[in-house]
Amino acid sequence: MGIKVSAPGKIILSGEHSVVYGYPAIAAAVNWRLVRLPDGKVESKIPIGAGLGSSAAYAVSVSAAKIKKLDLERINRLAYQIEKKNHGSPSGVDNTTSTYGGFLWYRKEAENFKTFKQIEAKRKLPKLFLLNTGRPTESTKDMVEYVAGLRKKRGLYVEKIFRKIEKVTRSFLNYLSKESNGNFGHLIRDNERLLESLGVVSESTKAIIERIEKMGGYAKITGAGGREKGSGMVLVYHKDVEKIGLFAKENNLNMMPVKLGGEGVRIER
Ligand code: MEV
Repeated sequence: MGIKVSAPGKIILSGEHSVVYGYPAIAAAVNWRLVRLPDGKVESKIPIGAGLGSSAAYAVSVSAAKIKKLDLERINRLAYQIEKKNHGSPSGVDNTTSTYGGFLWYRKEAENFKTFKQIEAKRKLPKLFLLNTGRPTESTKDMVEYVAGLRKKRGLYVEKIFRKIEKVTRSFLNYLSKESNGNFGHLIRDNERLLESLGVVSESTKAIIERIEKMGGYAKITGAGGREKGSGMVLVYHKDVEKIGLFAKENNLNMMPVKLGGEGVRIER
């Protein structure tokens, strides 16, 4: 008899791409889940190809359905193998976040040695939204390969960006654990600028983000991004929730509220 399981999607607050090369990342499970029924059918609220870890949630659900109990370590290990088949060289942050949920500090030290720890968020995050900039024409694998190519050609430039990303990731950690005041919006903006200099944000997405910033808001891609057309979902923060809602509406952009720190994989009754 099959079992019914569900697994969440994720966002990356900071560290996408650099996490593939051993730099730390902070990721959070979201409140959108994929449900796998006993007959293997899947119902999902997680948009596909949007940077929200739909493929990882799928892998985690396959893995949990196979293992049939909530052995998180085993589920995560098998899900990583499935992800590897699909993506080539993933860091494992997506499947680990979907498995364990919450906020995670994650680091791939070596192929067979990954460290992570739940971050106890001591601060209530502001209201956040996900805005759809359109589905990228590139897959996650393509984007990871693009960065690998750039790193081969311009190693120093890329490592410099990665180190700056790590600084932002650490500032997010201090912010979440209330060790510093920090400015959530500024961290989002700084992270986005670094991802732009890595070349993983398309022109049309940059234009949307620029307009959000001109209105006093902040936004960043979350996940692999996209170069040619859309760059998937962007995480948006604006003090004035109504203002940003109106902006999305007037520009016909699909935007919805998102909650971070959702529960990891679970067996449904
Ligand atoms: C994708 O959600 C995050 C990337 O860093 C790839 C990975 O970590 O495997 C772009």
